[in-house]
Amino acid sequence: MAEAILTATDLVKYYPIKGGVLRRKVGDVKAVDGVSFELLKGETLGIVGESGCGKSTLGRLLMRLEEPTSGSVVFDGVDMYAQKGRAMRKLRRDIQIVFQDPYTSLNPRKTVGDIVGEPFDIHPDVVPRKGRRKAVQDLLDLVGLNPEHINRYPHQFSGGQRQRIGIARGIALNPKVLICDEPVSALDVSVQAQVVNLMEKLQDELGLSYIFIAHDLSVVRHISDRVGVMYLGKMAELGEEDDIYGRPTHPYTQALLSAVPVPDPTLRDKKEQIVLKGDVPSPANPPSGCRFHTRCWKAQDKCKTDIPLLELRPDGAGEHLSACHFAQPREIIETIDVSDLADGDLDTGRRDTASLEPVGDGPADS
Ligand SMILES: Nc1ncnc2c1ncn2[C@@H]1O[C@H](COP(=O)(O)OP(=O)(O)OP(=O)(O)O)[C@@H](O)[C@H]1O
Ligand code: SF4
Ligand SMILES: [Mg+2]
Repeated sequence: MAEAILTATDLVKYYPIKGGVLRRKVGDVKAVDGVSFELLKGETLGIVGESGCGKSTLGRLLMRLEEPTSGSVVFDGVDMYAQKGRAMRKLRRDIQIVFQDPYTSLNPRKTVGDIVGEPFDIHPDVVPRKGRRKAVQDLLDLVGLNPEHINRYPHQFSGGQRQRIGIARGIALNPKVLICDEPVSALDVSVQAQVVNLMEKLQDELGLSYIFIAHDLSVVRHISDRVGVMYLGKMAELGEEDDIYGRPTHPYTQALLSAVPVPDPTLRDKKEQIVLKGDVPSPANPPSGCRFHTRCWKAQDKCKTDIPLLELRPDGAGEHLSACHFAQPREIIETIDVSDLADGDLDTGRRDTASLEPVGDGPADS
């Protein structure tokens, strides 16, 4: 088994809520609340979950764009939050981020050469000044852009091309880990596939490890080796891609997967969609015990009081991590193997034709 490049242990990030005339602290938004996992060398770990569950906050903590309330990140054997000054600057070179929106994440007044070469200004020892233009052109070439377009401005590129620019900037310093926060969510479906394929190519060529954050389960499945499912600041389930999509044991994952559309009309009837009760509770006041208990059809008294640990639990074929007292697999019937599809077929609707068949108790109220 590959060794870990990054280990997060019990990461917590609370944002204070201030109120009243005196702006006193009246509570906390518990954005990330005790998240632990490893990222292995060369792998892609997908992180999925509904809006507001803490994915981006987690991404920022892993890069130390923010300080955690508590917890630790060990990166390549080094305790990240204990580093200062030069040591931290050196560490930052090895862990880079690609953001979601290719329209707002690039400065419109800078040329592509300036944007992609920006990391060399921050870390001038990486490439000598004389060699920068050539280094930037090589990067543009690597991500499939025309190196002659080095003097163009972001508005002269399409959304997909802009995201390639963002990726070129992300890999400029030859990092070990790239954190990708919804890198393809703003792109057309056909362009998503091209960018995802580029990322896979770069991973093979450069030996990168990825944290790939997204809310689109199909895209995450396509690129990830392992997948973590977050709910209200906590990891609900974590396992190999096949475990999560084929044998999910956490009711929340099962519900998320049941909402993926089935395009094949002959199979639609077979799919049992789990309709969750209510909205996602506020992270300022998360439910006691299991955070999912207010929406879970399997909830029992224990769920209201005891926090379920993220532990190895049987999934029918083996075991994988799940934070549910009553973890139980549900079988997925696959109708199309995603790896059989061509690039252009990477499409939320067309690719993921997973259908849930109950193995244990079915939802009582859906
Ligand atoms: N700087 C901040 N100050 C206060 N609250 C914040 C801050 N950043 C995030 N939050 C809150 O923390 C929670 C998690 O936010 P986060 O952006 O990490 O979610 P997300 O999973 O990335 O959502 P999305 O899918 O919409 O991008 C939200 O309730 C959000 O409002
Ligand atoms: S611990 Fe209880 S409430 Fe939480 S997911 Fe499992 S069954 Fe549902
Ligand atoms: Mg986000």
